[in-house]
Amino acid sequence: MSVSSPWWRSTVIYQVYPRSFADGNADGIGDLAGIRERLPYLAELGVDAIWLSPWYPSPMADAGYDVADYRDIDPLFGTLGEAESFIGEAHRLGLRVIIDVVPNHCSDAHAWFVEALAAGPGSQQRSRFWFRSGRGEHGELPPTDLCSIFGGPAWTRVTEPDGSPGEWYLHLFAPEQPDFNWDSPEVRAEFEDVLRFWLDRGIDGIRIDSAAVIAKDPALDGDSAYTDRDGVHEIYRSWRRLSDSFPGERILIGEVWLPDRQRFANYLRPDELHTAFNFDFLCCPWDADRLRECINETLRAHAPVGAPATWVLSNHDVTRHVTRYGREDSSFSFAGRREGVPLDLQLGWVRARAAALLAFALPGSAYVYQGEELGLWEVENIPYELRQDPMWHRSNHVDPGRDGCRVPMPWSGDEPPFGFSPPGSAAKPWLPQPADWKDRTVQAQTGDPASMLELYRAALRIRRDEPALGDGGMRWLDAPLGVLAFSRAADEASASGVVCVVNLSDAAVALPPHDVVLLTSGPLAGGLLPPETAVWLRRS
Ligand code: NOJ
Repeated sequence: MSVSSPWWRSTVIYQVYPRSFADGNADGIGDLAGIRERLPYLAELGVDAIWLSPWYPSPMADAGYDVADYRDIDPLFGTLGEAESFIGEAHRLGLRVIIDVVPNHCSDAHAWFVEALAAGPGSQQRSRFWFRSGRGEHGELPPTDLCSIFGGPAWTRVTEPDGSPGEWYLHLFAPEQPDFNWDSPEVRAEFEDVLRFWLDRGIDGIRIDSAAVIAKDPALDGDSAYTDRDGVHEIYRSWRRLSDSFPGERILIGEVWLPDRQRFANYLRPDELHTAFNFDFLCCPWDADRLRECINETLRAHAPVGAPATWVLSNHDVTRHVTRYGREDSSFSFAGRREGVPLDLQLGWVRARAAALLAFALPGSAYVYQGEELGLWEVENIPYELRQDPMWHRSNHVDPGRDGCRVPMPWSGDEPPFGFSPPGSAAKPWLPQPADWKDRTVQAQTGDPASMLELYRAALRIRRDEPALGDGGMRWLDAPLGVLAFSRAADEASASGVVCVVNLSDAAVALPPHDVVLLTSGPLAGGLLPPETAVWLRRS
């Protein structure tokens, strides 16, 4: 990374899922007290920033992505005062703080939605959402056939204040998550104020939930009525003007799921968002040709807008990559998730190690989802009655849901709750942890050079010290079939720098010319790089 490059072009961001990170008050649910206690762990791991999934007051119909008040903290997690202290403490440890803002929808418990229900049809209060009359003789049919992303119709009918069956409102996600109408100037002004509220409190960035669906065609018919509407860009331009008006580099990160890379890059024009999650990379199967193509296309799409790429392997919505990479079909798609597909966890673990070295060596910024540094797998056998994800419930149990990647972190000890809750706590973790996570705790892995945790620590340390890594360019090197090899240089003119080789073929391969082996994801075999293994080399 060049010294003059802004921090966010190279940053490694660690995603904390507050419910599942660490429980400070012994109720079985993670909270701010727990996160604060573990901040030194994150600083020592070597990440640069923390992104926290929503911490706001919420009825938790979608684990906090149903926000009832954008300017406060849910009592489950702590208080606003604690959040302010947390931001200060993180900064003192050299960690930046990124929060999650959910602009597409709020909770049905949000004051504006409660007011909209009470105010009735045609009111200004309803104009902040998408209320419509139903079809059919008595309005008994939804206004359009739009489906919710979580399954079922995207419309729910309300009972009017006089007790009669009334209008319908739009919810792209759960019925408890009514969509805001971004054509309303009040909605726009409100969110700018919310952003200011948190930027004033010192946060370094905002992760924008469902960023590509907030602008709507008022006809609200068909997926094109909400996916990637042109009007969305003007909203983010105004957000960028706002974030740029604060001192320091405060950043905007889009959760943008779009198959079209050019349309994706439009969000990253210099006056819009700083970066966006690279879901193409996350979804890509463990296959050399597919990965090479994904990397090339990613860089090709980012280059014209001058934005850095991001490299993401897991998050709180997708099957953990140790599990994905242990399957014959190692790609990810929401539609492709099924229970009971054969799995080789050891293979997934070995590949996940190589994938980490790949992701951290590529140009741009990278993400770590809590627990991936421990090699956690997707917990696929959570008893049905304990599952909480609305995707599970609303798909009539067709989709296994996302609880399996949200199981509380194992910190120490030989049995659940593995130090997740304070010693002596009677509360069980909100989702059950597998007993065989005893080998995956932070305590068990610390000091073990063969562990995932020590691999992450070493990789992040090298990445931070090594000027060739992070932001910049890359050059592919000639390599045998099934092998990815590329070099990173601190400046374009020099040939010296870091070489990364990832062997996805069936045979061990020779290492390219180098001076030093910096790090390997697994042991070399007689000087060769074995299958499913990655290496970082220094070359002068
Ligand atoms: C994307 C979030 O990551 C996911 O967890 C949530 O369910 C939806 N947006 C709706 O807010």
